[in-house]
Amino acid sequence: MDNADPRTLDYQPTLPENLGRGIGIVGAGGIVEYAHLPAYRNAGLRVIGITDVDAAKATRVAAAFGLPQVYPDLDALLADPEIAVVDIAVYPHAQLAVVERAAAASKHLLCQKPLADTYPRAVQTVEVAAAADVRLAVNQQMRWDAGIRYLKLLVAGGWLGEPTYASIQVHTLTDWSLWPWIYANNQLEVMFHSIHYIDSLRFLLGDPARIFTSGSLSPGETTPGETRTLSIWEYASGLRVLIDVCHGTWHDDRYATFRVEGSAGVAKGTIGLMYDYPRGRPDTLEVSSQSFANGAWFSPLLETRWIPDAFLGPMASLMRAIERGEEPETSGQDNLRTLQIVFAAYRSMAEGRAVGLDEIVADSVSAGRR
Ligand SMILES: NC(=O)c1ccc[n+]([C@@H]2O[C@H](COP(=O)([O-])OP(=O)(O)OC[C@H]3O[C@@H](n4cnc5c(N)ncnc54)[C@H](O)[C@@H]3O)[C@@H](O)[C@H]2O)c1
Repeated sequence: MDNADPRTLDYQPTLPENLGRGIGIVGAGGIVEYAHLPAYRNAGLRVIGITDVDAAKATRVAAAFGLPQVYPDLDALLADPEIAVVDIAVYPHAQLAVVERAAAASKHLLCQKPLADTYPRAVQTVEVAAAADVRLAVNQQMRWDAGIRYLKLLVAGGWLGEPTYASIQVHTLTDWSLWPWIYANNQLEVMFHSIHYIDSLRFLLGDPARIFTSGSLSPGETTPGETRTLSIWEYASGLRVLIDVCHGTWHDDRYATFRVEGSAGVAKGTIGLMYDYPRGRPDTLEVSSQSFANGAWFSPLLETRWIPDAFLGPMASLMRAIERGEEPETSGQDNLRTLQIVFAAYRSMAEGRAVGLDEIVADSVSAGRR
């Protein structure tokens, strides 16, 4: 346990020294408009321009945020020597082609999640960046969501003791009209939503040995994918994790909560974004630690939101990695472990059994497609 006051830990992202490294954005869709660009603007990052296969969208978003350049295509963006970092926010199946061309132009890369639609393609994406000697980070920004970052500081600081149980439980009503292409996908809830919880729980607690996932639909849902999942993670230490998500909660008793119990403390709270997507509200957090005030409960004040504030985290981490010659926190290599859990979940659903992470390997075609 460290000497800090657990009521006032610094959960804000660490910024790079050079905020002026040029950013070029590929894809002018919803998430860029309501999350990437507001976060970068608030932090004073330098976005030079944007491109989209739908030129009108790129023009409209550039005007809304005062971006100097709208590039007619990817080649034009990559030819701009002012751009050091390419921020990709296209569909997962289209990401590798952009990565290949941007890496060949020696640009560093921030990729959207999921990194790819199959595990072998994700491995290939990481290898392309490594071969070109450019940094690749994945936009798993929930790690910088205030509640999760604060939990990490509590766990790492020893305030909760040895973790024994953790859960994320989200029962919400999701408006899939924001993402018709996701609703049409065979792999839905884990691939596009719980992937955030998976990455955050790995960040907090490390990798499980094996997982069991059960997926289903709410009555009346027509997607070929799954919109409700229950996952259990097993660790050799005895730690157990539960992820419980339902996107079809028709009644008004909706909730989005997290909880970590340890040998010396408990922390619990709410995920503000899931109460009113995409605006949301700040997370809440309540903590009791035997190492502080005899276990009296306290509530750190969390003032930032997942959208847009947490979106600064992956970009700041990538820029610091470039500056310092290090790997970003959510490097491609790290993200392969998150994706092993994602694809283990799909194998578990298909085969009705617990699946070890080491079963998901790049030379297994079924790892990426069911
Ligand atoms: N919290 C999060 O991290 C979060 C939330 C939502 C979406 N996303 C991810 O962001 C990505 C985009 O999602 P969205 O909701 O913005 O989708 P969207 O449909 O609103 O936008 C995608 C945009 O990409 C453009 N595009 C597609 N292929 C392109 C290409 N090859 N080159 C240039 N432009 C291209 C499309 O024209 C469209 O404007 C997806 O990978 C999604 O999984 C992440």
